[in-house]
Amino acid sequence: DIVASFRLQKNVSELRGNLSKLVLDIYAEVGVPNSIVAVDLLHPLAGSNWTNVIFSIVPYPKNSTISSMGLSIIRSSFMSLVVRQSTLHLTKSMFGNSSSFEVLKFPGGITIIPPQHAFPPETLHATFNFTLNFPIYKVQDRTDELKDQMKKGLLLNSNEGMRANAAL
Ligand SMILES: *[C@@H]1O[C@H](CO)[C@@H](O)[C@H](O)[C@H]1NC(C)=O
Ligand SMILES: *[C@@H]1O[C@H](CO)[C@@H](O)[C@H](O)[C@H]1NC(C)=O
Ligand SMILES: *[C@@H]1O[C@H](CO)[C@@H](O)[C@H](O)[C@H]1NC(C)=O
Ligand SMILES: *[C@@H]1O[C@H](CO)[C@@H](O)[C@H](O)[C@H]1NC(C)=O
Ligand SMILES: *[C@@H]1O[C@H](CO)[C@@H](O)[C@H](O)[C@H]1NC(C)=O
Ligand SMILES: *[C@@H]1O[C@H](CO)[C@@H](O)[C@H](O)[C@H]1NC(C)=O
Repeated sequence: DIVASFRLQKNVSELRGNLSKLVLDIYAEVGVPNSIVAVDLLHPLAGSNWTNVIFSIVPYPKNSTISSMGLSIIRSSFMSLVVRQSTLHLTKSMFGNSSSFEVLKFPGGITIIPPQHAFPPETLHATFNFTLNFPIYKVQDRTDELKDQMKKGLLLNSNEGMRANAAL
C-alpha cells in the first residue's frame, strides 16, 4: 500500500465539491502508469481552515501491480516532497498551496540519508536505533545539531565520529 497525506487551506465541503479535480491533480503530480489515486479521508484540522488530505496510490487494473520502476519514481517524488525540495502543485485557484506532506505507508519504507562524511570502511562502529517523534523534515535540516547533542550525551572521544540515517 502507498498512503500519504498533506494539508490544504480549504474546508472539507469545498474539497468534497471538487474531489474529482483534486484526484486528477494529485495523479498529475505523483501518479505513474498502471496506478490510480484515491482520496481516502478528508480530515478537518481543529480550529483552523485547513484539511488534512489522506490519499493512496493503488495499482490499476486492480489485480495488477505497480512496476518497480513506478515505485521508484513515486519514492523519489515522495522523498523530495517530504524534505521540502518540492511541493505538490495543485490547481491554485481551487486548492491554494499544499503543505506538510507526509508518507504514511510505503512498501519497504523510505530511508533518507543526509549528506555527511563517510566512515573509512575498516573502522569499528556500533549502531544505535531510536525514534524521534517529529516529522522527518523537522529533523532533516538539523542533523548536525542532533549529532552534537548525541556526542555530548554519549561522551565520545575526539577520535570517535558519528553518522546519522533517517527512516520514515
Ligand atoms: C467552507 O468555506 C466556504 C468558503 O470559505 C464557506 O462559504 C463555507 O461556509 C465553509 N463551510 C463550512 C462547513 O465551514
Ligand atoms: C470548488 O472550488 C471552487 C474554487 O475554490 C469553489 O468556488 C467551489 O465552491 C468548489 N465547489 C464546491 C462544490 O464546493
Ligand atoms: C480562515 O481563512 C481566512 C482567509 O482564507 C482567514 O481570514 C481566517 O482567519 C481563517 N480562519 C481561521 C480560524 O484560521
Ligand atoms: C484479474 O485476475 C483474474 C484472475 O487472475 C483474471 O481472470 C482477470 O481477467 C483479471 N482482471 C483484470 C482486469 O486483469
Ligand atoms: C502560495 O505560495 C506562494 C509561493 O510560495 C506564495 O507566494 C503565496 O502567497 C501562497 N499563497 C497562499 C494563499 O498562501
Ligand atoms: C530500527 O528500528 C526500527 C523500528 O523498530 C526497525 O524497523 C529497523 O529495522 C531498525 N533498524 C536497524 C538498523 O536496526
